[in-house]
Amino acid sequence: MRDKKDKSMYTYHIKDMVFVSNCKKNFLKITVCCVFGIVGLIVMILPHVLMSSHVVHHRRSTRYPTDLKYILFWSHKKHKNLIPTLSRLTEFQPGQKTFIDQKCRHINCYITYNKKTLTNDEDFDAVVFDLNTVAKMDVNLLNLTRSPEQLYIFRSSETSDKYPLCDHDLEHFFNWTWTYKLSSDIPQPFLTIYNTMNHSIVGPTINTPWVTIVKKTRKYANKIRQKNKAVAWILTKCRLKSKHEDYIREFRYELSRYNYTLDIYGPCSANKCPGGSALKCYKMLEKDYFFQIVVEEYLTEDYVTEVMVSAMSHLAIPIVLGPNDYSNFLPPGSYINAQTFSMPKLVALVDYLIRNPDMYEYFLDWKKYYYYKVRPRSYVCDLCQKLNEFNGTSVTVRHFRHWWDPDYKDECQRLRLFKLFNTET
Ligand SMILES: *[C@@H]1O[C@H](CO)[C@@H](O)[C@H](O)[C@H]1NC(C)=O
Ligand SMILES: *[C@@H]1O[C@H](CO)[C@@H](O)[C@H](O)[C@H]1NC(C)=O
Ligand SMILES: *[C@@H]1O[C@H](CO)[C@@H](O)[C@H](O)[C@H]1NC(C)=O
Ligand SMILES: *[C@@H]1O[C@H](CO)[C@@H](O)[C@H](O)[C@H]1NC(C)=O
Ligand SMILES: *[C@@H]1O[C@H](CO)[C@@H](O)[C@H](O)[C@H]1NC(C)=O
Repeated sequence: MRDKKDKSMYTYHIKDMVFVSNCKKNFLKITVCCVFGIVGLIVMILPHVLMSSHVVHHRRSTRYPTDLKYILFWSHKKHKNLIPTLSRLTEFQPGQKTFIDQKCRHINCYITYNKKTLTNDEDFDAVVFDLNTVAKMDVNLLNLTRSPEQLYIFRSSETSDKYPLCDHDLEHFFNWTWTYKLSSDIPQPFLTIYNTMNHSIVGPTINTPWVTIVKKTRKYANKIRQKNKAVAWILTKCRLKSKHEDYIREFRYELSRYNYTLDIYGPCSANKCPGGSALKCYKMLEKDYFFQIVVEEYLTEDYVTEVMVSAMSHLAIPIVLGPNDYSNFLPPGSYINAQTFSMPKLVALVDYLIRNPDMYEYFLDWKKYYYYKVRPRSYVCDLCQKLNEFNGTSVTVRHFRHWWDPDYKDECQRLRLFKLFNTET
């Protein structure tokens, strides 16, 4: 029933567009077109008229499950009649457009940044609070009437390292979370892993179901034989975290004892990518290098970003330096986790694999089963899907601050001291 309605709504848009472009032909056609046009217009407008009168005159309890789901993206700034300009907060187009553009299975969702879109605050099915907003807002001063049937959603594509959340009132405030963390109610990782055979989505998810029996592939033997350099690191930025710099320096020193090099390519390095293009850099890496370093800027759990997709799409074993646990993001036997080896052992392994191409090949076997793609940060289909699946059972995120950042107590303490210190001097 619900699916039926989705489809018919969608075809209206398409038909309408085809129609307009056909209307330019000749006079007779114009007459016919106009008649159809008026009928089409009525058909198009009618649901909206019904919908809006519906919202104005009835309370939430009389709305039907097949109605549009209204989603308010809350901002701490005063809400005017604004179509938001580009900013972090506004990565989603208002209206239904985003859901249609992204070819979502459910498109009966409607995004707005203006709470006046509906007469009553309680009529929004969901209110989304972005991390940047939550960090600055006072829950008790929120100018928004809440109904127990509504879903308040916490949203972030940024790491908890940037903002620990300290306000105690947040503890039982949200109903759902929508972040890069796999334990979110709506998980939104930065990448998607596909099955090579049928292109279905494999992960990442909690306990990604990797195949356990991997067949040896000799597909890349020739390419491996042509490699002649040890380790490369492709950077897109200039600045590095000092912690990473120390690690890289030590790695480089240890490699030099085996007469290997670590070559860094990037805008501020001695080695520049051919034509300044990262893609060409990756082609070169695939041809010449045995290993590539893949560093995440933050070491937060599940924070595995788009850079991993470039790495996994090119033929060089990734040495990963990021969260402790990559097991839901990378197939077993496809990578080396720098954090699980001491430096001398890591470099000994690098040396061993370079001198034993047969062993090296094992690390590429996974390519027969999976491939990686970037998941756009503005992806919204899962939100609409989850709203459609919601059965009304009451849910609340417990221990929210700890979920967001297990170290929040220390971090918040540090923030408090920092503030004190800054105001006193
Ligand atoms: C709260 O919102 C209403 C409109 O929804 C507005 O009239 C009122 O001034 C707002 N109050 C504050 C304190 O912002
Ligand atoms: C795709 O293939 C995998 C294993 O080969 C299987 O488990 C999965 O159910 C398939 N998915 C679809 C949508 O056919
Ligand atoms: C590294 O190169 C130097 C000079 O070419 C050589 O003396 C040394 O034995 C090499 N060390 C290793 C571990 O290959
Ligand atoms: C509603 O959904 C939740 C979570 O998806 C599930 O645990 C629960 O059993 C469902 N309740 C009913 C009545 O279907
Ligand atoms: C959302 O959480 C609030 C606060 O805990 C709760 O009162 C409300 O019933 C929840 N709503 C839903 C739809 O679960």
